[in-house]
Amino acid sequence: MVKIIFMFGVAYLLGSIPSGVWIGKKMYGKDIRDFGSGNSGTTNTFRILGFKAGVMVLLADVLKGTLAGSLPYFLNSELNPMVVGLGAIIGHTFPIFAQFKGGKAVATSAGVLLAYNPPFFIFCVVLFLVILYFSRMVSFSSILGLLIILPSSLVTNDWVLTTIAGILAVFIIYRHKDNIKRIRLGTESKVPFGYGYKK
Ligand code: G3P
Repeated sequence: MVKIIFMFGVAYLLGSIPSGVWIGKKMYGKDIRDFGSGNSGTTNTFRILGFKAGVMVLLADVLKGTLAGSLPYFLNSELNPMVVGLGAIIGHTFPIFAQFKGGKAVATSAGVLLAYNPPFFIFCVVLFLVILYFSRMVSFSSILGLLIILPSSLVTNDWVLTTIAGILAVFIIYRHKDNIKRIRLGTESKVPFGYGYKK
């Protein structure tokens, strides 16, 4: 029991590292939560601070999830990595180091999946990129991706994976409620590449 509480605590603290907020403030003098979508995640970092900052935040946010999901391997625990990873996903969304105002959990969830099932992670990344190419909206790609990933997870025959994919689909789509409003209004911001993009 002590080991389980310890793993969740470490996972939560890892997830709580507000990479977007810290990189923005310390390296660029900006709190990205005051700009763009107001989100502290990868997409808003790319949008507000540019490519280099976006890549750093993406890698940091994925790594947080991967490290948290790897804790049961490091500590010889039987606990499912996806379950431990939930601690990091909660930390990322409600970070103790950033006034509990965090991101939408897409990159960190992907990192947890990378620790648990790399082939399925690759499938999810490819799916996301294909949707992103055609829609040019990260939020739409995250939402539609989750809706496809959930039934697709059934092929793994892993009820823990499918159950957590279901929980995350509901949670992450709820976190995108403002994006959904903008998508419906046609005002959601688009990435500067992909199908139909003109300079
Ligand atoms: O991962 C978050 C992404 O799906 C949307 O981010 O900044 O456009 O709300 P943002």
